Amino acid sequence: MVQVSPFLLVLFLALGAHGLSAKKCFLTGRWVNDLGSNMTITSINANGDFTGSYHTAVTATSNEIKVSPLQGSKQRGTNQKGQPTFGFTVNWSFSDSITVFTGQCFVDDDGKEVLRTMWLLRSHVDDIKNDWKSTRVGTNIFTRLQPQQ
Ligand code: BTN
Repeated sequence: MVQVSPFLLVLFLALGAHGLSAKKCFLTGRWVNDLGSNMTITSINANGDFTGSYHTAVTATSNEIKVSPLQGSKQRGTNQKGQPTFGFTVNWSFSDSITVFTGQCFVDDDGKEVLRTMWLLRSHVDDIKNDWKSTRVGTNIFTRLQPQQ
């Protein structure tokens, strides 16, 4: 018969309970980023593919901003500890540009979900000589938009 000390028993129970109760980060829903842009991720299928819409607060063009579609993918692996990685593409409805985002869905120390992302914005250029100035890079932090009370 294997002897388990009461201390180890309590430790295992505590770790197990923490693992079960640790808050997970879910991508679906409405998000706002540090630029004031709004994003909605509608639903995610069993493969981790998702769609949604993006309303940017800023543009590198002089065009009128319009809500644009996004398509993305969440990591398939199960070893994500409730904080999955993901990527998505925004195909801008009002410009010839494309932005790709990659990031991770975290739960911060206050228990709040946050998306830490990096992006590449590819703008259209008319001449290959201008390719060097076609791409911007940056980061965005998204927090969940709370429903109006
Ligand atoms: C364009 O200007 O051609 C399309 C809009 C680009 C908006 C960029 S994408 C990266 C950054 N994050 C945002 O929320 N908006 C800007």
